[in-house]
Amino acid sequence: MNENKLTVLLGQMTLDEKIAQLTQLATPFFKGASDQGQITGPMVNMGIDEEVVMNSGSVLGASGAKEIINIQRTHIEENRLGIPLLFMSDIVHGFKTIFPVPLGIGCSWDLELTEKSAEIAAKEASVSGVHVTFAPMVDLVRDPRWGRVMESTGEDSYLNSQFARAYVRGFQGSDLTHDLHRVAACVKHFAAYGAAEGGRDYNTVDMSERELRETYLPAYKAALAEGCEMVMAAFNTVLGIPATGNKKLMRSILREEMNFNGVLISDWGAVKEMIPHGVAEDEKEAALKSITAGIDIEMMTATYVNYLKELVAEKVVDETIIDEAVLRILELKERLGLFENPYRGADEKLEQEIVMSAEHRDIARKLAVKSCVLLKNENVLPLNKKQKISLIGPFAQSGDILGPWSWLGSKEDAVTLREGMKMKVESSQLTLAKGSGIETVSEEQLHEAERVAKDADLIVLALGEDSEMSGEAGCRANIKLPDAQLKLIQHLKKLNKPMVAVLFNGRPLDLHGVIDQVDGVLEAWYPGTEGGAAVADLLYGDENPSGRLSMSFPFSVGQVPVYYNHFNTGRPKGAPDAQVRYVSQYLDIPNDPLFPFGFGLGYTSFFYSEMAISEEVMTPDQPITVSVTVTNNGSREGEETVQLYIRDVSGEVVRPLKELKDFEKVVLEPGESKKLTFTLTEPQLRYHHSDLQFESDPGKFIAYVGPNSKEGTEQSFTLVK
Ligand code: GLC
Repeated sequence: MNENKLTVLLGQMTLDEKIAQLTQLATPFFKGASDQGQITGPMVNMGIDEEVVMNSGSVLGASGAKEIINIQRTHIEENRLGIPLLFMSDIVHGFKTIFPVPLGIGCSWDLELTEKSAEIAAKEASVSGVHVTFAPMVDLVRDPRWGRVMESTGEDSYLNSQFARAYVRGFQGSDLTHDLHRVAACVKHFAAYGAAEGGRDYNTVDMSERELRETYLPAYKAALAEGCEMVMAAFNTVLGIPATGNKKLMRSILREEMNFNGVLISDWGAVKEMIPHGVAEDEKEAALKSITAGIDIEMMTATYVNYLKELVAEKVVDETIIDEAVLRILELKERLGLFENPYRGADEKLEQEIVMSAEHRDIARKLAVKSCVLLKNENVLPLNKKQKISLIGPFAQSGDILGPWSWLGSKEDAVTLREGMKMKVESSQLTLAKGSGIETVSEEQLHEAERVAKDADLIVLALGEDSEMSGEAGCRANIKLPDAQLKLIQHLKKLNKPMVAVLFNGRPLDLHGVIDQVDGVLEAWYPGTEGGAAVADLLYGDENPSGRLSMSFPFSVGQVPVYYNHFNTGRPKGAPDAQVRYVSQYLDIPNDPLFPFGFGLGYTSFFYSEMAISEEVMTPDQPITVSVTVTNNGSREGEETVQLYIRDVSGEVVRPLKELKDFEKVVLEPGESKKLTFTLTEPQLRYHHSDLQFESDPGKFIAYVGPNSKEGTEQSFTLVK
């Protein structure tokens, strides 16, 4: 149906039908639904009638070709104008084949494999009838107390921007209308949801507009530049106003400045939540502020249905605003080809063939291998396949390794660590004990663990957080491993055997009680369906760890927020002329994180040499190149992620000590060297000034090249304009 036909269709719709089109309901509301689908928020009585349901525009959380075909068929039969539904769901890091959580994927620095994972997720979702995914989540994060850091790719806006683009490419492909195995992407949560004060979900976000634009907006912008079809508004305030009713954020910044003309959806219940936020006295005012700000679809509340008609009658809302919103939704349905084929890619036979296919699981295993980060290894890894290993801990054979946004992924399908290790060695070489629960431990469990481990050459501890201790509303003020698990470590420590801890969790943890007690630590995050196999590949050396942290590990929660691209302050600790006392420091802990952004170990080592820049002077017309030679001076092949940072030594506003500007992954054989060359241009030096102008300043800069945000070699250069 082309543009004119959509306008004609819009003209045929009554105001009630238009308003219902702006309402998204969860699966249980719909006839033809046989199960409740994915419920991701408070189910409340919305006081809506059948009429609204049969005219609503989209469904949240349905899946399954048969299920969605039934719901769609019933809906089209009952809808006066036969307008098809949009089916939207949270396919964040996999549909049924679950990939590592995005924070793990962020540590892979592998954009190609990330795009592939999104393509697979889209393929599985589309044959199961889904049209839109509420992903990628690109919220920048600096506070591991927040439960949703697992859903982000980390603390750096450049790296998050690259991942945002890769996810959108994978979900949408290059021809969304005709490639039925792709889904529309919905970048979220606009904006700055990851900056919640105290790391407490839904809490206040308050920062300068300059900081918002400089640090938090780039990744959303990148997703839109890649053609992302939809945007989801954040629950939180931005510049003092909830995003859902924030006209400046939505109409000025998103639609005008970022030139976004797609569908903007609220988050679950967020329109009505403007009442408790304190910017709407009642649902009518909430509806007014939301439609005025440009929210097209109200998710799971009924303020539009209950009050927009009245607001139009009172001439407070012009019907053209509603028409614009409805047209954007109809246009999305058109781009997805739903008017010609309302069932799009839904196909029960294909669903059987490709969902959870061996090929998909293989990619999941590869990405899980690349997402794990080796944090410590004092000559204990890789394991020798002749060693007698005791595998002990609550995650030894747990399927809870898919993460909190894994919806259709089933724990029963997950390869546990025990299963992964059993594939590597004879069963006589692997003994097992649970040792403790996630948050509880008994004397019996400790004694059983001790008995099992006493003949072992080495103990592998499988520890972590229950997936409910992470994800939405899964915030923790104490980010250590639960005491029960720390007690287990202490108990086994008495055996004086080498110990390796594998961590299954959704946030950078405070590793006190772990890092100082064991000889090796492998951060596995929630590694997904093939997680146990991938971790076993790494433990036994069939794969070489290559993950690099995309979010800092704090020394303790007292440091939080801690991130690499911080400002220097006027009294930096450790400066050559620094005082002992009157500097920016804690009296009881270091300033530096336990492990910095970009950090990760492997089974080989790399040597950096011959860093050189092409010119000492850069001009807007004359970029410079930064080159470095990387050598694998270890004994086995390995992959290094070479990182390029800059520092603007003197800005109009204070500038970060380091900013990631580029990176390149390189695989080197033992003894092999490779010269890498990066190009730095004047636009890459631009930043938001105090007047919000986005431009570079002439002056001195420093380029750094290295294996992470702390180490590397440097060369200065000057920008002349
Ligand atoms: C949730 C989440 C959002 C998700 C939505 C629909 O509250 O905040 O990320 O996409 O509801 O499930």
